[in-house]
Amino acid sequence: MSQYIISPEGNLFGTVSISGSKNAALPILAAGLLSEGESVFSHIPELSDTACMGELLLCMGANYARHMDGTVTVSFPSGGRRKTAPLELVNKLRASFLIMGPLLARCGRVRLPLPGGCQIGARPIDLHLKGFSVMGAKIRQGHGYVEASCDRLKGGSIYLDFPSVGATENLILAATLAQGETIIENAAAEPEIADLAACLSKMGAEIEGAGSDTVHIYGKESLNPCHHAIIPDRIETGTFLALAAAGHGDVTLKNVCPAHSKPVLAKLEEMGFLLEVGEDMIHISPCERFRSVDIKTLPHPGFPTDMQSQFMALMSVAEGTGIVVETVFENRFMQVPELLRMGAKIKIDGRTAVVDGSKRLSGAKVTATDLRAGAALVIASLAAQGETVIDNIEHLERGYEHFPEKLRSIGVNIEKR
Ligand code: UD1
Repeated sequence: MSQYIISPEGNLFGTVSISGSKNAALPILAAGLLSEGESVFSHIPELSDTACMGELLLCMGANYARHMDGTVTVSFPSGGRRKTAPLELVNKLRASFLIMGPLLARCGRVRLPLPGGCQIGARPIDLHLKGFSVMGAKIRQGHGYVEASCDRLKGGSIYLDFPSVGATENLILAATLAQGETIIENAAAEPEIADLAACLSKMGAEIEGAGSDTVHIYGKESLNPCHHAIIPDRIETGTFLALAAAGHGDVTLKNVCPAHSKPVLAKLEEMGFLLEVGEDMIHISPCERFRSVDIKTLPHPGFPTDMQSQFMALMSVAEGTGIVVETVFENRFMQVPELLRMGAKIKIDGRTAVVDGSKRLSGAKVTATDLRAGAALVIASLAAQGETVIDNIEHLERGYEHFPEKLRSIGVNIEKR
């Protein structure tokens, strides 16, 4: 297990280029299974999660390669395909379940290990499976596996009880090759879904309404390969803004899509930060004493659950008291015991946390329990006196490309051991 050792050293200053979105890249890589020919995807971030999806695609019989210029190619020729994946791989990456829709649509049968829960919640897949059944698939579960089969998927009308990002993506992927029209209501509206639809449209799919709560997909007989560039990562964007905010930074982010970060930008302005927003850049100026805010996580366009822990770290050193309500995942306050070790004042009651701001935290030895909880600790370390040692940084490297290098480029004194 590796560690980050961070010691605050003056105010942050500089420019960071934001990478392609991890959460857009994963379903788009799975979309590579929908056509025979070779699709080329650019701005796929080089992360353990994207590498794991690549391994999974290879394992299912696809051709997958990452090239020197940063592009990734995927093709899935007919014949010789495996229809099942090893448990170790599926357990490493929850999003591996996104291959079910494309494989079912193209091969008519797929058997995958049931993904377990993870640190942040039980994370069931019932909504994915209900949607596949509406489209005519037979679903069987047993011995830790789920198997879906069909002759050809048929369009249908699907209502999601909750706007699940993964279920919306999996069902859109499957519906592109189904017979007739599929309607998904109460669909997730995250920007990553609109990006998936943009990519699928380049492959010849017909999709309306992606990025809103109702999506119509008109199924095709086959799809073609395409060339698609992934959108910038809005969570990496938000994380670097929170990092700059905590480290009194005068920092510019380039290669961003500000429209995707509105809930985060609004909260930073409410805290008192001055932001300059351009077409594909955001600049944040230092603010000596910033105010706390209240946050409630919600499906897009609400405040993203993936930014909750980073904002909690920032609120720990803000003026006043703020309340955080987590409505998306049932166990997403994993960062709290670690922040408490650094001197933060946080009380939890169920899905609500009350955060009393302190002037300064103190460096300590802490553990990254998941990706975003780990990011919260890096943010806290910038507002702490003395050295912070963060264990289990493998979690962080699942989601932040070249993280230590990018942090150093804006003046963070960080060592990886
Ligand atoms: C995706 C993101 C993750 C983000 C989350 C919410 C990827 C790879 N991951 O995860 O970073 O935190 O969206 O924005 O894009 N649920 C069910 N049944 C289902 C599916 C989901 O009850 O069949 C519940 C989950 O337990 C959770 C909620 O719905 O409480 C949201 O989950 P979902 O939107 O599906 O998240 P993911 O797609 O797993």
